[in-house]
Amino acid sequence: MNAIDIRNKFLKFFESKGHTIIPSAPLIPENDPSVLFTTAGMQPLVPYLLGEKHPEGTRLADYQKCVRTVDIDEVGDNRHLTYFEMLGNWSLGDYFKEESIKMSYEFLTKELEIPTEKLSVTVFAGDDDAPRDEESAKIWKEVGMPNDHIYYFGKDDNWWIAGEEGPCGPDTEMFYDTGKEPCSENCNPSCDCGKYVEIWNNVFMEYYKQHDGTYTKLKQKNVDTGLGLERINMLLQGKQTPYDTEIFAPIMAKIQELSKKDNLQSTRIVAEHLRSSIMIICDGGRPSNVDRGYVLRRLIRRMTRHLNKLQINLDELPKLIDLNIENLKDMYPSLETNKETIKQVIVEEKDKFMKTLANGEKEFFKAITRLQNENKNKLDGQTVFKLYDTYGFPPEVTKDLARRTRNFYRYARI
Ligand code: SER
Repeated sequence: MNAIDIRNKFLKFFESKGHTIIPSAPLIPENDPSVLFTTAGMQPLVPYLLGEKHPEGTRLADYQKCVRTVDIDEVGDNRHLTYFEMLGNWSLGDYFKEESIKMSYEFLTKELEIPTEKLSVTVFAGDDDAPRDEESAKIWKEVGMPNDHIYYFGKDDNWWIAGEEGPCGPDTEMFYDTGKEPCSENCNPSCDCGKYVEIWNNVFMEYYKQHDGTYTKLKQKNVDTGLGLERINMLLQGKQTPYDTEIFAPIMAKIQELSKKDNLQSTRIVAEHLRSSIMIICDGGRPSNVDRGYVLRRLIRRMTRHLNKLQINLDELPKLIDLNIENLKDMYPSLETNKETIKQVIVEEKDKFMKTLANGEKEFFKAITRLQNENKNKLDGQTVFKLYDTYGFPPEVTKDLARRTRNFYRYARI
């Protein structure tokens, strides 16, 4: 089974349960300047969660392209991704906890054939804003979840909201046990040791969090679920990271073949940022100095820096883009149609960045000479900031260069 099979199974399953399959909304939200990118499947559905009638009815399912950049600096480890796909099903004032939990359990155990012993679930422990979710726990027990696989946690773990204000509610989350040894006696799904990996989140959206932090009840009780495709695909294939699955493996292999340096973290950053950039450009994003354009610029520039770190000839970039599109076009057919534009945008941005780097490097050495004349052997924050602010020279590059410049090693320790 691969990612496309899982996606198809999901859509077919929810269709058989009376859901209408709706298309993925674009990564760049239409008529919504308040958010940079679509970050969750529920985002395009907010008006309908608040009570507006959806033209396709009260049961919907889709796969949604998402970009989240809060963890951009973590990319390169074994799990953080800036682009991912979220499979989701929604009840807009239709079914609630019972049907939602039963359908999720059936999908995981019958369609994906995950044994119950591999699953654990969490439910909301309750507080002043909403009661302890005994109802969900009871349903989980009824379907066959053992008592000691059901955990109660507070708002930090079992409450979902996009941002500070909006529709929200307690959630029940499903975890996959990777079979790793528990990290301690108290090892549980809320811990980060890697034994339990969250796979699905069912939010029981019946509240609205107001601007002043208080909660009111929504007009209707909704369900909003999200199942991360890259993650479930990796687990079902028994792989340790998404980079080991078919989504990334061919591009990882090509980057490794072209590299003159062995650096797994940089290889992953190139593969991940390239996929994100391709997807954003395909949906109309273009690099710029503000907002979403700036995020795209950052992704392409960070990827270019890591190509340099791996000592890959930058003329290979179009080939890497071609290979990436070839690998992903069955999942996202519009990549093929937009291939030439995608290549052009990435290569142009890479060229601009290389000019910025060359220019910034000159300014860096001018600054060093000035500091040396002043008998200083430490780069001050002001100089680092000026190099970045005026010449676009990234602080990370300044740091690398300072490390390699005699007498300026101390900067590296700031
Ligand atoms: N909105 C929830 C999430 O993003 C469930 O889809 O996790």
